[in-house]
Amino acid sequence: MKEDENFMGIFKYFKSKKPKPSLENVVSVENNRHNDKVIRCTLNQENDARTEGLGLDKFENWQMYYFKSHPGLYLIRNPFTNLGQRYWIRKCLEEYPRKPNKTNIDFEVYLEDWWETCYSNEVYDQSLLQKLRWTTLGYHHNWDTKVYTDENQSPFPPELAELADVVALYLGCTTFKAQAAIVNYYYMKSTLSAHTDHSEINLEAPLFSFSFGQSAIFLIGGLDKSVAPTAILLQSGDILVMSKEARLCYHAVPKILPASSTPWNENLNEVTEKISLYKYISQSVDFHKNMNRNINCNEWSKFGNYVDKSRININVRQVLKENQNRLQCDVLLS
Ligand code: OGA
Ligand code: MN
Repeated sequence: MKEDENFMGIFKYFKSKKPKPSLENVVSVENNRHNDKVIRCTLNQENDARTEGLGLDKFENWQMYYFKSHPGLYLIRNPFTNLGQRYWIRKCLEEYPRKPNKTNIDFEVYLEDWWETCYSNEVYDQSLLQKLRWTTLGYHHNWDTKVYTDENQSPFPPELAELADVVALYLGCTTFKAQAAIVNYYYMKSTLSAHTDHSEINLEAPLFSFSFGQSAIFLIGGLDKSVAPTAILLQSGDILVMSKEARLCYHAVPKILPASSTPWNENLNEVTEKISLYKYISQSVDFHKNMNRNINCNEWSKFGNYVDKSRININVRQVLKENQNRLQCDVLLS
């Protein structure tokens, strides 16, 4: 990689099919080769009772990293259990694209329930399956105006708000409220072009990004596109946190890569022994309700087949300022 290259030059380099890009400079947090760029840090937070019921491992087992040249950027390397990955993948496919949430398919045809429609015929509809690119939850991101409005929102999924809350508390952020999310669906040829996320009134609150399924090369640069970005490998279960200086930096996904392992397909035996235990953790009602269904191979296989060829990214944001209840208030006050 040439040092004088800007964001777009590096984006094109990684997007290119011929010649294929070298992955040598893609930072993988687990690889010692990148010790000069990425540093492991430990936070001694006492475990949150909600981790198990959200499909997360205990805090003491979390591996968190920060990036020397990107203050405010953190990567928590897959803190999810294998069953936890199944739970979130299934939510993103079966529940989150349902009405009243919005999807890119709405512009073409109104579907009450995309996943159900895909599988409603004898032979499943492969082309409809691959049409889903995004779904929005809570305050709906307006792709044209980039403006959130009070009218354009649906209820934010409580379990996803809780997941973001647990991760925020782990990082010492006690005021975070999940109010909007974009779920992105990527196929092996998909990309996401360079952008910043600046529509939220509250730009001080961190942004939490959860990745599942196939891997991705994620680029993050500076406040303008003249800054050469760092390429980071994102794998299934990874949580990327964009906070402080990193919150408004340009970023993109130039390439989806085949996953080197498939934790969502791996052995779930150790978890089944714990089933009776989960029943008594009140916060995990939803996780527990779905547990047997997610362990069942026949039920799971459709979702497993989908992520064997796709990547899912959940991007969670706070929209409002700390003591603000609605957007309109802000307009009246200003
Ligand atoms: C986004 C975004 C990155 C990713 O949705 O705004 O930047 O990893 N997603 O998919
Ligand atoms: Mn983004």
